[in-house]
Amino acid sequence: MFIGNGVSELIDLVLRALLNDGDEVLVPSPDYPLWTAAVTLNRGRAVHYPCRPEHGFVPDPEELARLVTPRTRALVVINPNNPTGAVYPRRVLQALAQLAESRGLVVFSDEIYDQMTYDGAEFVPMATLVHDTLCATLSGLSKVYRACGYRVGWVAFSGRTHNATEYLNGLELLSSLRLCSNVMAQWAVQTALGGHQSIRELVSPGGRLHESRAAILQATAHSRYLTLTPPGGAMYAFVGVDPQVLPDFDDQQFTLDLLEQKHVLVAPGVSFNVPYCNHFRITNLPDAVTLKDVFARIEELLSAYAALPRTSGRAAGNVVSVASRAK
Ligand SMILES: Cc1ncc(COP(=O)(O)O)c(C=O)c1O
Repeated sequence: MFIGNGVSELIDLVLRALLNDGDEVLVPSPDYPLWTAAVTLNRGRAVHYPCRPEHGFVPDPEELARLVTPRTRALVVINPNNPTGAVYPRRVLQALAQLAESRGLVVFSDEIYDQMTYDGAEFVPMATLVHDTLCATLSGLSKVYRACGYRVGWVAFSGRTHNATEYLNGLELLSSLRLCSNVMAQWAVQTALGGHQSIRELVSPGGRLHESRAAILQATAHSRYLTLTPPGGAMYAFVGVDPQVLPDFDDQQFTLDLLEQKHVLVAPGVSFNVPYCNHFRITNLPDAVTLKDVFARIEELLSAYAALPRTSGRAAGNVVSVASRAK
């Protein structure tokens, strides 16, 4: 186990120790974009495997197997997922574990949202399924313990560690280069892991995160424009805009317009490495009352788009922006 200044630092370290120029890493699409960025920065090639909206953002292991080449070194799994909130079923994780074992891939399982699940969704740790190849499980204090500013995370290795001595030595060397991770933050780990698990109340009925998620589900269900696969975990919803109703929708223009005109900040779907532009990510951290207001503002902006003559989404957004600036 290695302790780091957040999972972010460890994502870079575990890839830096592994990759040679041009090595390929299977990364989900959408992904938490640091994974793609860290593969690229370490001269690897991120090969995105689709987690499609129409399949509840769950990957298809057979499709994924077809992306493996002789250059593939690792498989990244983010479960529960940021940005979609998908919690992968056991049978899918089993198939991914078997694929990694049969093709000798290192599994990087980012499980930083492991205790954030809703309505009985089952979280299955990848380390319980991977035995015949190296498995790295990453987690930390940032999400479940809401202490992201402490900058503390960890990576635990399991599976065939005895075959990976050189890799683990490399990692030891790289982590020694920064001497150590923040010591004061490490003191918080025992208190967090051994103390009262307040996250359980937050994600249960009546709890803040549960109720905020319910507000998002309700608002999207009543929307004329929005679609949503209910997130089973994490603290996000990856909301779609119905292409039948708003075929010109452009997520980047929308997020700019929403910020400028309605003072609401969301993240455009394309920033999570997807090949479509009709999604945005919202978090269920604000309380339910605030989220109700947020979705009313989103609906207003989308109604303004719908009232425009059809052109390209970017142009449609611009017309609203220019009009509102002119006021
Ligand atoms: C899936 C995932 N992994 C890692 C991180 C980074 O966590 P940390 O604060 O420990 O660097 C995040 C933060 O948003 C995340 O969503």
